Amino acid sequence: MLHDGLHSLLDELARVSALPLERGETLPARAYTCERFHQLEQERVFRADWLCVGHVSQVARPGDYLRTDVLGEPLVVTRDEHGDLHALSRVCRHRFMDVLPPETTPEQGSLKRLTCPYHTWTYRLNGEYVGQLAGAPLMNKVDFDRAACRLPRYRLEVWNGLLMVNANPSAPPLGPQLGRLDAVLAPYRLADLVVAYTATWENVPANWKVAFENGSENYHHMGTHANSLERVVPGKDTVIEECDPRGYSMFTPFAADLPTAPDEDGVPPVGALIPGLGERELSGLRVAGLFPNLALALVPDSVTLLRWVPTGPTTHDALATVLVPAAAQEQPGYEAYVAASRRQLELIQGEDLVAVRGVQRGLATGPAPSGGRFSHLECPLWQFQRYLADRLVGAPVAIA
Ligand code: FES
Ligand SMILES: [Fe+2]
Repeated sequence: MLHDGLHSLLDELARVSALPLERGETLPARAYTCERFHQLEQERVFRADWLCVGHVSQVARPGDYLRTDVLGEPLVVTRDEHGDLHALSRVCRHRFMDVLPPETTPEQGSLKRLTCPYHTWTYRLNGEYVGQLAGAPLMNKVDFDRAACRLPRYRLEVWNGLLMVNANPSAPPLGPQLGRLDAVLAPYRLADLVVAYTATWENVPANWKVAFENGSENYHHMGTHANSLERVVPGKDTVIEECDPRGYSMFTPFAADLPTAPDEDGVPPVGALIPGLGERELSGLRVAGLFPNLALALVPDSVTLLRWVPTGPTTHDALATVLVPAAAQEQPGYEAYVAASRRQLELIQGEDLVAVRGVQRGLATGPAPSGGRFSHLECPLWQFQRYLADRLVGAPVAIA
């Protein structure tokens, strides 16, 4: 695309983001296909805002680590001997090898120190010295300042039990921005839940925003999920609760005549309820979203974190992390419950992928389609445009 192309695209983003919801229009189609727009998002959204990389239960004990790549940087989250969490670069300061390569190391585990597998340089993980070089064999015959050698650290906040990292040292703290969402999420006590399982769909052939937008409205239940979710949580009954510049929440009551879905052996597997939920939380599905790329699906027995991470202008990875109350793991039939939950997630995701891929094919047609209109249930998508415009439009574009 020519340089002018990006400017006209940003002008169009500015125009649609200024429209009231009643006259709201879809984002320009090129926002889902343009390489330079993708680069600008990487710089001003993904490297500038807080991103969820996992859940505290994945690094529960001192010495635990969790590998993540969602920031566009290879990172590891560690917990030190005082219980404090840190986010470190995994790029070794010798010749820049990944110190925890996915080819040979598990995604999470426990370590006393980080040892680069290339030439065995070793880094500390304890408290104030976290990331500091502890040892570098055969480096005593050259002029080498060991004390200055340290893995770069990233900012990390825990928000409702979620590990949030930021590549931007001057970004405002996340917690104070999210008071309204905090109130909505509080009954689910996310920090006390544990990870039941994770699932990943790599390189889905669609821009990440197509998937985030799909996950941020329940209008599509009546089409995409007509034979699954729509029977349990009918899209038309959804009420948008919060929709502000940082995120949204919405609630859909369970259908009055809930179908019971027996498992293969004829017995529906039952999970443990999240303790202390109120009447409202027990009676439906809540979906909450945090811009740019996190959505949570909250039901009485589990919370699913969904993240969509761009891997190019027209591809993304979809990551799901399913949380349950710790007590569920002690219940008889827990494994059957997890297996059934996984099947259900795969079924729903399979349905969503048809829509997500189909929308991307539509966006890539020429002349580019434009002027799609929102229903009232797509308020989160309308807010999302404002979030994007706020970060992408205005400051000069310096990408070559
Ligand atoms: S690159 Fe890590 S020790 Fe050489
Ligand atoms: Fe869906």
